Amino acid sequence: MTNFPPHFLWGAATAGHQVEGGNVNADIWPLEWAQDSMFTEPSGDACDHYHRYPEDLAILADLGFNAYRFSLEWSRIEPEPGYFSRAALDHYRRVVGTCRDHGLDPVVTYNHFTTPRWFAGSGGWRDSQAPDRFARYAARVTDHVGDLLSWVVTLNEPNLTALLTQTRAIPMGAGERGLVADLGSATGGIGGFDPARYRMGLIGADVEQMALIHRKAVNAIKSGPGDAMVGWSLALVDLQLAEGGEARLAEARQHALLDWIEASREDDFIGVQTYSRDRIGPTGAVPVPDGTPTMQTGWEVYPSALGNAVRIAAQHGRVPVLVTENGMATDDDLARIEYTRSALEGLAQCISDGIDVRGYLHWTLLDNFEWMSGFSKTFGLIAVDRESLARTIKPSAGWLGRIARSNGQDLGVVS
Ligand code: BGC
Repeated sequence: MTNFPPHFLWGAATAGHQVEGGNVNADIWPLEWAQDSMFTEPSGDACDHYHRYPEDLAILADLGFNAYRFSLEWSRIEPEPGYFSRAALDHYRRVVGTCRDHGLDPVVTYNHFTTPRWFAGSGGWRDSQAPDRFARYAARVTDHVGDLLSWVVTLNEPNLTALLTQTRAIPMGAGERGLVADLGSATGGIGGFDPARYRMGLIGADVEQMALIHRKAVNAIKSGPGDAMVGWSLALVDLQLAEGGEARLAEARQHALLDWIEASREDDFIGVQTYSRDRIGPTGAVPVPDGTPTMQTGWEVYPSALGNAVRIAAQHGRVPVLVTENGMATDDDLARIEYTRSALEGLAQCISDGIDVRGYLHWTLLDNFEWMSGFSKTFGLIAVDRESLARTIKPSAGWLGRIARSNGQDLGVVS
């Protein structure tokens, strides 16, 4: 007996900039190297997954998984506006083909935070031309690899800026002020351009603009070869009430989560990404109480977040759910197993309750570049030696692979 339906996807997820290495045309690269950078260290060679993907995919398949989520790096494919690199497109076609050769269903993210420097420098997601720019890229990519794809995530966590604004009270002022300017001043200025004008692709726009960008990309993808399931993935932190936070929670829930979930109703699925909960008081998220177990990131160890996020996504999105990220930053691999077991139990319960869940993609395959924290946060099922880049499979990878091979039966959840 298993709670999980046939053809359930069991996999791990990565993102190009965090694992590939040498991603020099991405908007974030120069920020990493800036004097007084807010990045603790640069991504550099990352995990050299760009060259080592055959080894990494072979390990994933051998462990028992049947899916792999990764992202295409827009800045490699379109390093200058309108110039598409045949070599980069061919590379990603080989990656997708290698997935297929190993029986791994590719779940391909067209954009995972980083954007080409030219895109970020000409207004990023907020520019009026952003929808057409992203749709042109999506069309070109789909022409090249669409026939091999079954799952496409257009944008990763387009609601992240809204979520941070709502829960962390990060100022998002009009025009050139706000988070962008804060990031700019944190870098101390970057040679060659004015950081206040240089919007990192990470900094999203409001839900209307991001939904328009998404919708145009979906249309471009659907007009090309293949018949992939297409959706986007949302950061669905489990928002809960802390004392006196009723009004603030209602607002945060609406604008950080529900507006975005509701914008997914025309999609083939919704990607759910959850790690923890935030308890919302009168001015936003309250600190995690002393003594509460936390991850390396400082987030509370709270695996029930997954089931809660899946429920809210299903209820308000009304489309199938794919868990596109869930995991734990820790150097205690047994704690990772316990966290994941508990999160999967919650997911199994969602399925028993009739929610249409299509897969679980663990974050992440490799210990990798955790953005501003550098390589210090280890979410990986596989460790990567920072000198030699050699891979070491952790017990959690073997454990989750066995769960995958048994399609969840080894989890032992009762329906
Ligand atoms: C992002 C990943 C990130 C992970 C852990 C997600 O929000 O999609 O890129 O590494 O969370 O912070």
